[in-house]
Amino acid sequence: MRSLINITDLTLDEIDELIVTANDIIANPAKYSEKCRGKKLATLFFEPSTRTRLSFEAAMYELGGNVIGFSEASSSSSAKGESVSDTVRTVSCYADIIAMRHPKEGAPLVASMKASVPVINAGDGGHNHPTQTLADLLTISREKGKIGDMTVGFCGDLKFGRTVHSLIVALSRYENIRLVLISPDELRIPEYMKTDVIKKNNMPYAETNDLDEVMSSLDILYMTRVQRERFFNEADYIRLKDSYILTPEKLLTAKSGLSVMHPLPRVNEISTAVDEDPRACYFKQVMNGKFIRMALILKLLEEAAK
Ligand code: NCD
Repeated sequence: MRSLINITDLTLDEIDELIVTANDIIANPAKYSEKCRGKKLATLFFEPSTRTRLSFEAAMYELGGNVIGFSEASSSSSAKGESVSDTVRTVSCYADIIAMRHPKEGAPLVASMKASVPVINAGDGGHNHPTQTLADLLTISREKGKIGDMTVGFCGDLKFGRTVHSLIVALSRYENIRLVLISPDELRIPEYMKTDVIKKNNMPYAETNDLDEVMSSLDILYMTRVQRERFFNEADYIRLKDSYILTPEKLLTAKSGLSVMHPLPRVNEISTAVDEDPRACYFKQVMNGKFIRMALILKLLEEAAK
């Protein structure tokens, strides 16, 4: 059974096909409105979410399908002590495809080994978030006309931000991507990301604390929220949470073709005054997330039917 746990579960050709399908859905939505008639998506969310869960649900409805699920662990039998394995075996009896978010790294992988339907990882702890990465890649491709030959700055919580980890893994497979990693010392990218992904793929990279110093070199600036729920100590969170706040003034030195991205939710890290700047892409990213999830649901259901 084909699932999506890690972005590398998809080949580059498959990612290209998903982008092509998503662009076609954007151009011809009516063509897709009955494709999943009679099918059910289950959204199993053991951690909070707005965009990911609702975009999966909207995606399935726009394909003509139906949705069941829960949005917090406390309203499911996991509150009674049920294992993830038993929950997904149960849900496999009710649904044709599962989207699961869980605070424990690896939980969706375990789920995919027990489920008899495709499982999509909708975020596991500080680890991976492959469907956000697909939304990010669709956004980069639509904004830039290609994915490659660009300098991408990641700013904020590079230690715990799973969207950062998944997107860097994805970008490591494209040509000529230079990384600029901007974070406080305590929130630097994990060592395994450097050795197993960045250095292994010979990606040129620089690390800095200073966003202003590198702003003018960037084609993409990917801002992130400091991941409060993954801190052991509230005092550390409070000290670090406002390390970077993007304002119109800070963008004065940026390229006119810069794309400012953010997986959202934002807390303080992008001032709302930036929303009016044509370089702000984060709400386009939200919309793209729904379309690429439609393309992914279609693909996985087609493969499951083979
Ligand atoms: C992200 C996540 O859940 O990792 N949100 C999302 O799905 N768009 C980013 C975050 O929570 O900071």
